[in-house]
Amino acid sequence: METILSLQGLTHYFGGLRAVHDFNLELPQGALWGLIGPNGAGKTTIFNLITGVYKPTEGKIIFNGEDITGLKSHLIVEKGIARTFQNLRVFNGLTALDNIRIARQAKNNISLFDSFLYTRKFYEEEKQAKEEAMELLKIFNLQSRAYTLAKNLPYGELRRLEIARALATHPKLVLLDEPAAGMNPREVGNLMDLIHWIREQFKITIFLVEHQMRVVMGICERIKVLDFGETICDGSPEYVKCDPKVIEAYLGRVENA
Ligand SMILES: Nc1ncnc2c1ncn2[C@@H]1O[C@H](COP(=O)(O)OP(=O)(O)O)[C@@H](O)[C@H]1O
Ligand SMILES: [Mg+2]
Repeated sequence: METILSLQGLTHYFGGLRAVHDFNLELPQGALWGLIGPNGAGKTTIFNLITGVYKPTEGKIIFNGEDITGLKSHLIVEKGIARTFQNLRVFNGLTALDNIRIARQAKNNISLFDSFLYTRKFYEEEKQAKEEAMELLKIFNLQSRAYTLAKNLPYGELRRLEIARALATHPKLVLLDEPAAGMNPREVGNLMDLIHWIREQFKITIFLVEHQMRVVMGICERIKVLDFGETICDGSPEYVKCDPKVIEAYLGRVENA
């Protein structure tokens, strides 16, 4: 199968702290893979490197055969990589619908000229954007919230809204950073089913970061385990679950007990 994202020897330092060391990944097109590890392992840093928030100290990021290392974040979105954030980043003062519409504009084909002159093209694009945003809200069971301000939505719904917003940019690859954080077990179960379904429906590739191991076990085809910036295990959920190094990383620390 074709590789959509290739990470080659990614290393990143924050001052003297080595947050990620020699991370490698060959993510096949259409895959649903997971990246897990205790708090502070370097998971979010890897997402920040892929999405151009930081430039890696060393290593290469190849997306769809193109070297995107060091490219600015907005250009990476245009290439087809979308993400969600561990700490939600929705616009509180906007409705659920507008949160999605705004994301889509990153990909819209409207020039400033069109929007100033209210051309037909502008209206058509707007109409299509709204229909598509409503469609996404429906998929995430948020249609009744379309006109609710994000700040009035419960936490679980905000998490879903963020994923919907990521999909609005028509990505080829979606990076989800702890999508289940703060959810109750029933919400987590539903979300995992939804993520699985989205992958099939939209024919996208998903790379998922999780802190809790059990969350990804049910849906990821392959899992990488990070600890202190190092890859300590890589394999199927069954394999990873039984690896003594993984058990030690998780059970050896009070915060994960
Ligand atoms: N912007 C930053 N400046 C300095 N240190 C950071 C920064 N971001 C993350 N770190 C450090 O890098 C390490 C990895 O963090 P992170 O990638 O957020 O871990 P994870 O997402 O696995 O919990 C941690 O030790 C964290 O404190
Ligand atoms: Mg993190």
